[in-house]
Amino acid sequence: MSADETIVILGGGGKTGRRVAERLTAKGKDVRLASRSTAPAFDWTDPSGWAAALEGADAAYVSYQPDLAVPGAVEAIGTLCRMAAEKGVKHLVLLSGRGEDEALAAEETLKRSGVGYTIISASWFFQNFSEAFLLDGIQSGELFLPVGAVKEPFIDADDIADVAVAALTEPGHKGKTYEVTGPQLMTFGEAVAEIARQTGRDIRFTTVGIDDYAALLEQAQIPADYIGLVRYLFTSVLDGRNESLTDGVLQALGRPPRAFADFVRETVATGVWEDLK
Ligand SMILES: NC(=O)c1ccc[n+]([C@@H]2O[C@H](COP(=O)([O-])OP(=O)(O)OC[C@H]3O[C@@H](n4cnc5c(N)ncnc54)[C@H](OP(=O)(O)O)[C@@H]3O)[C@@H](O)[C@H]2O)c1
Repeated sequence: MSADETIVILGGGGKTGRRVAERLTAKGKDVRLASRSTAPAFDWTDPSGWAAALEGADAAYVSYQPDLAVPGAVEAIGTLCRMAAEKGVKHLVLLSGRGEDEALAAEETLKRSGVGYTIISASWFFQNFSEAFLLDGIQSGELFLPVGAVKEPFIDADDIADVAVAALTEPGHKGKTYEVTGPQLMTFGEAVAEIARQTGRDIRFTTVGIDDYAALLEQAQIPADYIGLVRYLFTSVLDGRNESLTDGVLQALGRPPRAFADFVRETVATGVWEDLK
């Protein structure tokens, strides 16, 4: 890909999109962020704006919202692929969810589209604890989740961004699916214990039943379809199917993925996990 080519980042303000955009910009690439708050706007629920977001683009990083497992995701990815082909986009790099059977249908749609592709099928991000829905619990000192002994190979969003940038800027990644995990299997409780250890704070982890957790989300007026997605992620995907490590980061980058403890050390220094009470 030459320097004057344009790369669109769908979800450019998000945990991975922001990191992908920063890296591409640092390499001197022409980057266009696209989400509901950009101009032109890109909203996954309204395809009328998608053509403008893709106009003149050579490649795109695609992080779907809220999750490729939700109803309508496969159709949306199909529509995006058709528009990308019409607009001459030559490469789509899709972020997918590891172990999500429904996401595989979206991946297949992309593979059959005729557009060049790279798929990054990722485990749970470290940054869910520092930039997303687990942050409040860490800050308050008590994280409740409907998950117990199951282990997850959490991965750094920085590693995902590095894989995406390699795919978008180097030869040899088209037609590849990288299943990426971190280097270590951990329970959610072990991850919280590591954050507690390094922050020096008392942060408790408590397992609650899925119905009790859904009721808590309902009380907090979380939309029903989001609660449905949470139920799916914690009951179906976190059933032990992902309790294994992969070498996707090594395959794509030639180096191992970053350890959770290193992420925790850097994140402690930002102050984001300080006690807000
Ligand atoms: N979190 C995990 O552990 C994990 C693991 C594996 C895979 N994934 C997958 O990662 C993807 C999310 O990536 P991410 O975590 O990097 O993103 P994120 O942090 O959830 O991204 C939020 C971004 O999405 C945009 N956005 C929100 N709703 C939108 C909509 N309806 N249309 C267009 N843009 C919208 C937001 O900008 P605006 O507000 O401006 O629209 C923002 O830029 C999901 O498909 C998820 O399934 C996540």
